[in-house]
Amino acid sequence: MPEIVYLNGKFVPKNEALISPEDRGFNFADGIYEVIKYYDGKAFRYADHLDRLKRSLGEVSIHFDGCYQLEAMLQELLVCNELADQEAGVYLQITRGSQTRIHRFPDQIVPTVYATAFPFASKWDQLKNGVKVITTEDIRWLRCDIKSVSLLPNVMAAQKAYEQDAVEAIFIRNGIVTEGSHSSFLTVKDGTIYTHPDSNLVLPGITKIVVREICCELKIPLVEEGFAASELALMDEMMIVGTGSEVTPVVQIDEMKVGDGNPGPVTLLLQEKFFELTKQTNS
Ligand SMILES: Cc1ncc(COP(=O)(O)O)c(C=O)c1O
Repeated sequence: MPEIVYLNGKFVPKNEALISPEDRGFNFADGIYEVIKYYDGKAFRYADHLDRLKRSLGEVSIHFDGCYQLEAMLQELLVCNELADQEAGVYLQITRGSQTRIHRFPDQIVPTVYATAFPFASKWDQLKNGVKVITTEDIRWLRCDIKSVSLLPNVMAAQKAYEQDAVEAIFIRNGIVTEGSHSSFLTVKDGTIYTHPDSNLVLPGITKIVVREICCELKIPLVEEGFAASELALMDEMMIVGTGSEVTPVVQIDEMKVGDGNPGPVTLLLQEKFFELTKQTNS
């Protein structure tokens, strides 16, 4: 069965999906995206993803009025690809559209809407045993709160991590730990969780919203403040969290073991509670 994608109102085989070379996504990375995970055919935190999508569109002034039709479209895309009853993901990208290349926003332009669906199983080996991450300088722009498709610094950081047998690169800006190249980053010290606050320097992660709720329910102190990279050596636990990473323990950062080199108890508790929530029908 050919992979079916959604493009501008139609479901088509991927090899028939044609996007103009004048698309501003191609020429300028002038677009935004979302990745949503479906557990047992149900989108996890769809409303939060939709809110963030609308915010990203607004921040870059892409005028798209079809947001409320997206949920049904994505569901149909899963069905078309026989992914509706398993762990699956959808990638949704909206660019400003296609127009002869000029830098400013063209006057008349219709957004390009593209979506794919794919199997998206949890990586249980990593979730159980933990992973290695590296640190790297945060060379991104100053609007990391927008889920922009302009991801070259993230791609370069992820490649650097891969070349060092690590699964993620953690960005450091002016000595302060921000987040991962494709995940949020949290640490634990004496039972308190620390993470960078939402600001222009990090993406407001949907998984972080879930973590906030779990911390509130379990009365785990959560401090959202920037902390120095020099403090990493003092931390008991670390984790990366995200739609794909879920709640993954970090057991090594650069050449340093985290804690005793095993996933820590706070991380594992958060992870357990996270997966409970993914199983609830109204999550
Ligand atoms: C840079 C960055 N930070 C954080 C996250 C985590 O966000 P979410 O929990 O919404 O997947 C992602 C996910 O793609 C990301 O790319």
